[in-house]
Amino acid sequence: MPEVTEVSEIARILEEKIRTRSARVGIVGMGYVGLPLAVEFAKAGFSVTGIDTNEEKVRRLNAGDSYVGDVPSATLGPLVASGKLRATCDFSALLDLDTVDICVPTPLRKTKDPDMSFIVASCQEIAKYLHAGTLVILESTTYPGTTYELVLPMLARPGLEVGRDFFLCFSPERVDPGNPVYQTANIPKVVGGCTAACTAIGQLFYSQAIKKVVPVSSTQVAEMVKLLENTFRMINIGLANEMAMMCANMGIDVWEVISAAATKPFGFMPFYPGPGLGGHCIPIDPFYLSWKSKQSGVEARLIELAGQINGQMPHFAVDRVRDALNGDAKAVKGSRIHIMGVAYKRDIEDLRESPALDVILMLLRLGAEISYSDPYVPTLRLDGLSLEALPEEAAAAADCVVIVTDHSSFDYRALVERSRLVVDTRNALKGIRSEKIARL
Ligand SMILES: NC(=O)c1ccc[n+]([C@@H]2O[C@H](COP(=O)([O-])OP(=O)(O)OC[C@H]3O[C@@H](n4cnc5c(N)ncnc54)[C@H](O)[C@@H]3O)[C@@H](O)[C@H]2O)c1
Repeated sequence: MPEVTEVSEIARILEEKIRTRSARVGIVGMGYVGLPLAVEFAKAGFSVTGIDTNEEKVRRLNAGDSYVGDVPSATLGPLVASGKLRATCDFSALLDLDTVDICVPTPLRKTKDPDMSFIVASCQEIAKYLHAGTLVILESTTYPGTTYELVLPMLARPGLEVGRDFFLCFSPERVDPGNPVYQTANIPKVVGGCTAACTAIGQLFYSQAIKKVVPVSSTQVAEMVKLLENTFRMINIGLANEMAMMCANMGIDVWEVISAAATKPFGFMPFYPGPGLGGHCIPIDPFYLSWKSKQSGVEARLIELAGQINGQMPHFAVDRVRDALNGDAKAVKGSRIHIMGVAYKRDIEDLRESPALDVILMLLRLGAEISYSDPYVPTLRLDGLSLEALPEEAAAAADCVVIVTDHSSFDYRALVERSRLVVDTRNALKGIRSEKIARL
């Protein structure tokens, strides 16, 4: 257990509360990140209060009814029933709390500038009720400097000095929804504080519920760690996507190339092409970095370029459909096209930034009739259109089936058998040979 050194009396008391798990934990923003975190701390024996502005989420939480795929109601229910976890829309609950994790959204504006409004709104509320002896940790992904330059001035005031009276850290969230192996408790947690005392208390706090905690020297380093991780993914996916476009023109199977390259035991890590980026992180976070970097005079050229390549992929997927239908855009007009999977990635229900939405809109504009199957998304509304998910068998009636999201519950062999033509954007049909298949 890490020791907190050079600490104020206030820090010592908070440290003791954390060690004995009598500290009262607060989480602001009970979504895909906040709810699993709340559950881990409740499971570790802490009393946890979730604060969210969404009344429906608060109602469901207090009924033990989970709305996040990675948190079964069977896990949530007993924690709520035992009084270990509760939710409220009322920020005055902060008066009784010792720690506050901020897990609110950080989207992009239309101009691709960071939208800080959720962080600002939640910090305004936290500032009203902040008291001595509180540990505040920002978890929302954001540009380097946010915690120190934006959050700290909102919270500190005379008599409430950071590192002595209250403690402020940044700790990036690395959760990967739908990942059956790595979840909140066993993903190492990086934490950096505004002062050494802040880092030490942040480290002590997380080590109660999370297996491995990695302290770093500042909030800026912790913020940058997250952006490096997601930028690394975004740029390498961009390379895989560019490879896919090059291979398609040369008549080479990109999937076979990547899988053979991945046999190299060092110096190579496989990334895969697809119909486009999706979700709340990879398409967005790198632009937080490029926005901030531009201000310091460095153009983030790789990020911009990978963004352009990745942004072409829904178009490329639609081109593959058109080619598979044997012709130009007119071949799509009037065709019945069945989409397999609309969530942004396998085995989850999240539609945010899903490339399936772009693919569907483009096919609709070309005059296609669209239907879809997705066990996680029963209804889909976009551009004035309302669709209901159909059973997988509905693929048989389509002129072309497009696998956009490779959910593991789909029966891919049966799909190929019953379909006339299948465009596979995810290599979901790996190992299946058929004249009917067109791969990305
Ligand atoms: N979803 C992921 O896989 C993932 C992974 C790593 C990091 N992140 C980052 O974590 C942060 C949260 O993402 P998420 O996916 O959990 O978002 P989410 O939309 O699922 O949850 C955010 C919650 O915050 C609530 N909220 C909004 N404004 C609020 C306010 N002012 N006060 C209190 N609650 C408020 C919303 O009602 C919602 O329940 C983002 O910065 C995101 O980039 C997400």
